[in-house]
Amino acid sequence: MNSSVPASLVQKAAGAPKAELHIHIEGSLEPELIFRLAQRNGVKLAYESIEALRAAYAFTDLQSFLDIYYAGASVLLTEQDFYDMTAAYVERALADNVVHTEIFFDPQTHTERGVPIATVVAGIDRALADAETRGLSSKLILCFLRHLPEEDALATFEAALPLFDQYRHRLIGVGLDSSERGHPPSKFERVFAKARAKGLKLVAHAGEEGPPSYVYEALDLLKVDRVDHGVRSIEDPALVARLADTRVALTVCPLSNVKLCVFDDMTKHTLKDLLDRGVAVTVNSDDPAYFGGYVNDNYVATIEALKLDDADVYTIVRNGFEASFVTPAERAALIAKLDAYWHRDHGEHGGGVGVSAS
Ligand code: HPA
Ligand code: ZN
Repeated sequence: MNSSVPASLVQKAAGAPKAELHIHIEGSLEPELIFRLAQRNGVKLAYESIEALRAAYAFTDLQSFLDIYYAGASVLLTEQDFYDMTAAYVERALADNVVHTEIFFDPQTHTERGVPIATVVAGIDRALADAETRGLSSKLILCFLRHLPEEDALATFEAALPLFDQYRHRLIGVGLDSSERGHPPSKFERVFAKARAKGLKLVAHAGEEGPPSYVYEALDLLKVDRVDHGVRSIEDPALVARLADTRVALTVCPLSNVKLCVFDDMTKHTLKDLLDRGVAVTVNSDDPAYFGGYVNDNYVATIEALKLDDADVYTIVRNGFEASFVTPAERAALIAKLDAYWHRDHGEHGGGVGVSAS
């Protein structure tokens, strides 16, 4: 551990009630579960063993990761598979004191294998409904794969229309993910306009590997409510100022950025610079099974490498609730819970909260 960061701050952060706003549920599939589902469904994997699969997790960029991520998702066929995947993530989230999570899923990854979107959403939703009884609230965001044509995204949106009504309180938005370079947000202007007309929340990955111009496009053409990653915004001071002024949040995923070589190592991460310039940054896990950790691992790595102080960490955790797609009353309750925790005496040893709903 970095000696200049008190152990108690790391523990205080780990114990804090927090939101997670950038998690691809397919990226929470641990190798053990991938192999269990492959066996259950008779799906042949290109890897001999759990160890061989894990050994392939040495990524050089986003695409090198996506190739393996889509291969891993190929084991998901039944509603129960989506339930089991989500239930496993819920355990990790609860262990990290996540009290609210907004989860991405990639329907096109499954429909191309003949799995209906309704099956995907039913399994994920059932696990999230169970989690609610344990103090974890949640939303679901349908992401379009940007390497595919916009026509495919439009067809996916049309197919999902009944689900936006059926799961009105869970399925509240659309997003944009997959290979960023060469697939700017402008490619998806029409489908985002339709989602906006339906009153859905809008997010898009932008400025992970792509340039600041992609972040401008996400803001100006797609009219997103949040930007996923957005870390390359730092290259454009006017963009940083705009993000700070408008409080459009960035869902930053520090371990992901290092694993995908966006930054050489964690000490080079620009999260603290963005925070110091008034940008509403949040900390999230992205694809925790692939990038070396869940949300608390991301907090710990960031606190230590960037020497964050108590006020920094409080602001980041609070930003997660501020940027959540919840009602004002729900937001106030979440922030009150954080404040009750943060400002109590943590002593020398930090001390965490449980996540019981009481
Ligand atoms: N970026 C883009 N697409 C993704 C990611 C990511 O970090 N994770 C899963 N799909
Ligand atoms: Zn992502």
